[in-house]
Amino acid sequence: MTAPIPSRPLRVMLVYGTRPEAIKLAPLVEAMRQDEGFTPIVVVTGQHREMLDQVHDFFGIAPDTDLDIHAPGQSLTQITTRCLQGVGAALEEHAPDAVVVQGDTTSAFAAALAAFYHGVPVLHVEAGLRTGDITSPFPEEANRRLVSQIAALHLCPTQTSRDNLLRESIEEARVVVTGNTVIDALLEAVRRQVPAPDEALAAALSDPHRRMVLVTAHRRESWGEPMRSIGRAVARLARAHPDVLFALPVHRNPRVRQDLLPQIEGIDNVVWTDPVEYGAFCALMNRASIVLTDSGGVQEEAPALSKPVLVMRDNTERPEAVDFGVAELVGPDEERIVERVSALLTDPAQYAAMAQAANPYGDGLACRRILAATAALFGRGEAMPAFSPLPHALKEAS
Ligand code: UD1
Ligand code: UDP
Repeated sequence: MTAPIPSRPLRVMLVYGTRPEAIKLAPLVEAMRQDEGFTPIVVVTGQHREMLDQVHDFFGIAPDTDLDIHAPGQSLTQITTRCLQGVGAALEEHAPDAVVVQGDTTSAFAAALAAFYHGVPVLHVEAGLRTGDITSPFPEEANRRLVSQIAALHLCPTQTSRDNLLRESIEEARVVVTGNTVIDALLEAVRRQVPAPDEALAAALSDPHRRMVLVTAHRRESWGEPMRSIGRAVARLARAHPDVLFALPVHRNPRVRQDLLPQIEGIDNVVWTDPVEYGAFCALMNRASIVLTDSGGVQEEAPALSKPVLVMRDNTERPEAVDFGVAELVGPDEERIVERVSALLTDPAQYAAMAQAANPYGDGLACRRILAATAALFGRGEAMPAFSPLPHALKEAS
């Protein structure tokens, strides 16, 4: 337990900078707004810009402080130093009791370090994910391991992530299994039933029977040849399956676009768009037959919607969906991607085996568990029972 705070709401500063952090912390901001025991203070670094603002628009969040550090083609060193300085100043301005960071971005690491330097307890949401390879994903595996060293409370999405931390000798009493807040966010997005965002996509999807493969890719370690290989695989698949639509909302990173887009342009049944708003993206996942991705968040959301996920990476810190049989690692490997997507499109038995109900990442109560664990850290009440996976999909649960 940390030093007791006088009887007033806990001032919790949530610091984040990218799209996935915003999506995963939005329901926590909302839960804190609704709870009289908390005063949430939202500080965004602005590591992402348009992609971050899209999430705020969707969830109705107006940050208290925006450090606005975004710059085209920004380096990791630039992001780190600008976040560290900016968050340091925000800590002095807002004088929080605790700081929440999420996951493994450079914003999360720098914010945790700034809070640690200021002697403010760090609460780490989505703690304990590991691939075991410090270089992959880069720099995320290093970022999350570093945050684990300085966090006061480790809010793990799954039992696997808890076990990872205990193996690293993190104190057991500081580790809580909450489920992933992305499922809280997904439930809200699915509830709102947002239609397809983009005219070209909407037109291509006007036939409700047309199958669609949803593709996203952005990882730093895939820049260059792996990204071109992913693009070539999509192009070959589209030509081999002209009845199937391949939909690609493409990350704004120019390094992604320069390698991916030349491979896929000019093919009728490939539609690429700018990133789409969260609700619309969830609707697209729900509409998809197969999801092809290197994204972390998408690996968690698609299984909850019973969608087979082919992960275009060589490893994953999210082994649960692979263990449940709804996800499979295919690497950024052209031949393997073509082979596995083709098999799922043409073999109903293989498709049915993967498109099974599996929801290893959450039950929609992660934010409630995080609030209870945070209050308990400050000597107010008890933590809730740990999350354990549901043997059924979100659609059946809701
Ligand atoms: C970052 C995170 C990664 C996370 C990903 C989610 C780090 C080091 N990387 O990677 O962990 O999985 O976000 O998407 O923290 N850009 C825009 N507008 C935006 C966002 C990005 O133009 O709204 C462009 C800019 O040119 C920017 C570039 O994308 O410089 C890269 O952004 P950056 O945040 O450095 O890395 P990501 O690859 O997005
Ligand atoms: N997402 C979105 N619009 C898009 C593509 C993805 O809202 O056009 C959401 C997706 O549902 C998931 C999150 O963005 O919640 C994942 O972000 P990203 O893949 O950029 O980051 P990662 O999860 O890999 O860190």
